[in-house]
Amino acid sequence: MTQGLHLNEVSHHYAEGSNRTTALDRVTMSVLPGEFVAVIGPSGSGKSTFLSIAGALLQASEGKVKLNETDLSSASAKDLSRIRLHEVGFIMQSSNLVPYLNVTEQLLIVKKLSGKVTKDDKAFAAQLLGELGLGGKLTQYPDQLSGGEKQRVAIARAFMNNPQVILADEPTASLDTKRAHEVVSLIAKEVKSRRKAAIMVTHDERMLAYCDKVYRMEDGRLSLSESRSALAEAVR
Ligand SMILES: Nc1ncnc2c1ncn2[C@@H]1O[C@H](COP(=O)(O)OP(=O)(O)O)[C@@H](O)[C@H]1O
Ligand SMILES: [Mg+2]
Repeated sequence: MTQGLHLNEVSHHYAEGSNRTTALDRVTMSVLPGEFVAVIGPSGSGKSTFLSIAGALLQASEGKVKLNETDLSSASAKDLSRIRLHEVGFIMQSSNLVPYLNVTEQLLIVKKLSGKVTKDDKAFAAQLLGELGLGGKLTQYPDQLSGGEKQRVAIARAFMNNPQVILADEPTASLDTKRAHEVVSLIAKEVKSRRKAAIMVTHDERMLAYCDKVYRMEDGRLSLSESRSALAEAVR
């Protein structure tokens, strides 16, 4: 069985009136369990479109997308929504926490959406939050947390359903340097220890040192960039 996330010759076109924008142009990428991959590239180059397709939010115009054994390119809307809920964890630029839920409840709501919350779920939420350094904040509300802490809650939430894939879109955009390093190193740690296939879109070259591979997106074309260590060297 093929594990992980596999995109093969994926293209995507947006139609606006008589105009057609090719946002992705024959993109091929494989991410294996335990692999943390970065995608960099200028604004408008297709990064968010790429993540939306990888995360089953959008179906590609052409090409194949496979998550483990499931073919996302031909899945029904119902299957895609199940996959988004159970197999994909999203971490966005802003943490998007629910203001009236405490830290633990932010994670349990994910379980409530897919059924009922068990004792094991509560224990898993507490474990994840502990790993992310939030053990002392379990009953705090979002307005009592710093920006870095909120983003760490969002990371824990992304792992709560034990998804196969973790997708992060500019997760450090609203953080200072120290918090950005904390957040990305924690994502990397969880991705490794829990063996997720993970992709992070970032503008921040300093964060590439935490990734196994770096791809560059330009005008919808994806290419493998220089090795991570060469890049880390270059930004030092
Ligand atoms: N919903 C949409 N409708 C039409 N064009 C879009 C839409 N979303 C993105 N685009 C276009 O597709 C291209 C890639 O956009 P996007 O994936 O958001 O890039 P990035 O995340 O790298 O900034 C851009 O030219 C953008 O204008
Ligand atoms: Mg974007």
